[in-house]
Formats: sequence, C-alpha cells, structure tokens
Amino acid sequence: MKTHPQIKNLLLISLYLGLISCKNTIQTDDPQLVEEKTETLPAATQRNGNIEKGYDYLVNGNYVDGGIPFSLWLSLRGENSSNILKRQGDNAKVGYQYNVVTTANNTRAVGANCLNCHASYINNEFVMGLGNSTFDFSTDQTSNLNLLDALLKSNYSLNSPEYQAFIPYKRGFLTISPLTVTETQGVNPADKYAAILAAHRNPTDLTWRDNDPWGIPKEVIPTDVPAWWLLKKKNTMFYTGVGTGDFSRIMMASSLVSLQDSSQARQIDQRFPDVLAYIKSLPSPTYKGSIDQQKATEGKAIYEVNCSRCHGSSTNKNDYPNLFVSLESIGTDPALVSTNFAYPQLLEWYNTSWFSKPPFAAKLIAKQGYIAPPLDGVWATAPYLHNGSVPTLEDLLNSSQRPKIWKRTFNFNDYDFKKVGWNYETLTSKKDTKTYDTSIKGYGNQGHIYGDKLSVSERTNLIEYLKTL
Ligand code: HEC
Ligand code: HEC
Repeated sequence: MKTHPQIKNLLLISLYLGLISCKNTIQTDDPQLVEEKTETLPAATQRNGNIEKGYDYLVNGNYVDGGIPFSLWLSLRGENSSNILKRQGDNAKVGYQYNVVTTANNTRAVGANCLNCHASYINNEFVMGLGNSTFDFSTDQTSNLNLLDALLKSNYSLNSPEYQAFIPYKRGFLTISPLTVTETQGVNPADKYAAILAAHRNPTDLTWRDNDPWGIPKEVIPTDVPAWWLLKKKNTMFYTGVGTGDFSRIMMASSLVSLQDSSQARQIDQRFPDVLAYIKSLPSPTYKGSIDQQKATEGKAIYEVNCSRCHGSSTNKNDYPNLFVSLESIGTDPALVSTNFAYPQLLEWYNTSWFSKPPFAAKLIAKQGYIAPPLDGVWATAPYLHNGSVPTLEDLLNSSQRPKIWKRTFNFNDYDFKKVGWNYETLTSKKDTKTYDTSIKGYGNQGHIYGDKLSVSERTNLIEYLKTL
C-alpha cells in the first residue's frame, strides 16, 4: 500500500517532533501533563476534650467491654514485665495492647485496646500513635477462639460473670475472624471489622443481630494504619477521606466488638472527645539518624516545587491543604475506594444509625480517590501508600524501582537509613505470609509517580529533607 507523500512527510515530522508517541496512548508519565483532579475537603466542628483524661481512658478504660477473665489470662500468659506505659495496678501486668477492665457485669477482664493497631516500635523505640505495620492478620483465629471458649467453660460456670463477660467478646471476634484474613503479615483489615460489626448490629439501638443481612464476602482489601499524629491536620478521617463529621464518634467504632446497646454507646461517646484531644496532642517522632543539612536544604526546594501543593507547605508547617486526589489522577491501587467503608449497605446503615444522630453526628461519605496525607514523621511510617505496598521512600519516589514481590523480617530495628524504610529482599514468587505480593487485588504498588522525573541527586536531597519532617 502506498502512502501519499505529503501524509508520509507529515507522519515523519510528527514523529520527529514527538507529537505521535510510539504507544497508542497519550504520554501520561508526567503527572504535570495530566489535569489533576483534586478537591479541598472542608473541616467539621469537633468536640473539645481533656488530653490527660483521654490518655487515661485510652490505656485504662473499658470502651471494649468484656474479654478474657484476668485470672485466666495471668495463668495462661503470666505477668508482662515490660510495663512500657508505666501503668498502675492490674494494667501494669499486661502488655500495652490490652486493658484490664471492670466490665458492666462487674468482673475483671482483659480486652484488646486501640494500641494493638495504633502504637508500634521503630529502631527499638516505642512510638505512641505509630501505625502497627507488623500485626499478623493472615490466619483465621476461629479455632483459637474455640479453644479459649472450651478453656473458659472448664474453668467457670456458664452463668458466672466471667463467662458472661466473655460471650460478647467471643461472639464479636468469631464473627470477624473468618472474614478478615489477609494475604500478608503487616497489613490491616480494620475497615472490614467495622463493616462486619455494623452488619451485625441494629442501626437504631446497636443491639446484636446474629444474621448478616448484607452477605459480606470473604475478600479482604487491606490497608496500612495511618499515624495518629497526622489527625490534628486532617478535615476528614481515613485514607479515602470517608469519615466526616464528629471524629470522636467515628473512632469509637472499636467498641462495636462487644457493645451491649446504644445506652452503653452513649456513655463511651462522652469519653471520646478526651481521646480525640489526646490523639491530637501527639507529636511526630524525630529522625534518629544523621541528616546532611546542605542536602536537606536543596531537597526542601525540590519539595516545594513538586510536592507541597498536595502535602502542604514546607515554610509554614500549618499550611496543609487537605486535598483529596481523584483515583484517575493519583493512580494508586483502586480497590480500597470501592470496598469496606464504601460498602453501599454500610454507608446506608451508618448514615441512618445511632452514629449519625445529632448533635454530634458522624457521616460516611464515599468518594473516588485518596487524601494526600501530611508528611510529618513520614520517615517512621514505612511501608508507604494506603496499602503499605512500597517498603521505602526511595522506592516510592522512583516507581520503576519498586519491588513487585518483597519480604521483610518484621524486626523493629531492621531499618534502612539510606532508602528510608524497611530493609527487604526481592523475590520472584510469594513464599509465605511475610512476603508482600503486589499482584494480588488491593495490594498493588502502582501510581503516585511524582518522584519519577527527579534526577538521582534531586531524589537523594528530597529524601534528606523528608527526614526532617
Ligand atoms: C484492628 C486494628 C485497629 C484497631 C483496634 C483500631 N484501629 Fe483505628 N484504624 C485502623 C486502621 C487500619 C485505620 C485506617 C483505615 C482507613 O483509613 O481506611 C484506622 C484509622 C483510625 C483513625 C483515623 C486516622 C486518620 O488519619 O484518618 C483514628 C483516629 C483511629 N483509627 C482511632 C482509633 C481508636 C481511638 C481506636 C480504639 C478505640 C482504634 N482506632 C482502634 C486500625 C485499628
Ligand atoms: C497531586 C497530589 C500529590 C502530589 C503532587 C504528591 N503527592 Fe504524595 N500523595 C498524594 C496522595 C493522594 C497520596 C496517598 C495515595 C495512596 O495512599 O494511595 C500520597 C502519598 C504519599 C506518601 C505516602 C505516605 C504514607 O505514609 O504512606 C508519601 C511519602 C508522599 N506522598 C510523598 C510525596 C512527595 C515526596 C511528593 C513530591 C515528589 C509527592 N508526594 C507529590 C498526593 C500527591
């Protein structure tokens, strides 16, 4: 077939000028070329609270009502000697992730507290509010719960207060467990906890119902855990910005595990503004390695040009835009946007439930994208992105270098000061649950390519600057 000479010339000139790309899509590698679809999220009024009271309630309070009898706990696990939180009384004898509480039916029980997921270690230092990226949710706990149940039954009579205080706790976790098994250690299914527990509660009085009317599927779309010290800057909660309105009310959702009803919820709700005040008071941890100030200064200028419009100004740390970035602009794994907190029945349930009632109403409003988080203390929050799919900052800022299948040791001191994040090895196939395989649905590591166009030295300087945040 003959091409008309003029058309041929036109084609040649176009190719030469780079007007026609070899791919049949428009060149979209440079995010600057794509129109960025963002929106500024508005703030809602929050209740004020007392920081000290909030801390006390968080680490001693009975917002999770029920659990394992304290005496049985001690005989099974012994006394924990670390007392990292320097707590008093019985709480001094259990790990920081548990509260020994007096339950509504007046017995002493040990239940999980928020710090299971919201405190962790880095370089062997305990950091309050750091998302726990080491917890292992990759096995179904049903058989362990059943063993525990059998043990309780052989130690206490069925109508003893001890066993009665265990029933709602066991029921909650037996319901959650089979539906929240992750593919990998370190990622978190808490979003789905909330959806499952809501499905099992009557929206108005929050009493338990055995049947799940929504038929929640087994599939788990995992997340990382955002650092608590970021919340003071945010206008909405969660990676997808779905949590709007009264934050105190949204974050008491953990209580749904063992809650009796809405009258108990009202009591807990009164304490949560204090917890919010405490969370907002938390500082970000400072980087412990050495920082090259010259490079950091150069990196700051690179940040200002390439990153500040979404993550906030480097000159005024309080100037944070609360920007929500559409899925098509950010390009990161889309699965979270369409699951869990965006589950249609959950949205409808939540937004008509006890939680949505004024004067301290909370609402879940699902949108198509992710919020650009503040980067305070970002050196400590590896792995990166909402699903923890990228092990280091250097990999995040150079997408072609991101490992597709990677494995870390989960040792708290196995930290890479150069690339900033966790040390890891790259594998060719998924070996075990310590391996992160980015080809699994929801575990993808694509998108957020804003660092790709930087030169090696620009990237190094930028990372040096990020250490100072
Ligand atoms: C089983 C783990 C787990 C437990 C227990 C847990 N959380 Fe969370 N929390 C998460 C995860 C995961 C997210 C992020 C979910 C998302 O953004 O989609 C989160 C998000 C949050 C946020 C929003 C942070 C932000 O920047 O958007 C707050 C606040 C919070 N949790 C407070 C609490 C409090 C208070 C408790 C205890 C009453 C608690 N959480 C218990 C896992 C947990
Ligand atoms: C168009 C807005 C936008 C620009 C520009 C941008 N980011 Fe982001 N960034 C986001 C969004 C949105 C997320 C959350 C994406 C997700 O988790 O899926 C994010 C996530 C991150 C994270 C992960 C945080 C964590 O703890 O997981 C880091 C680190 C980060 N960005 C650094 C940067 C740096 C450095 C630059 C400049 C080179 C930059 N970003 C440019 C929007 C942006």
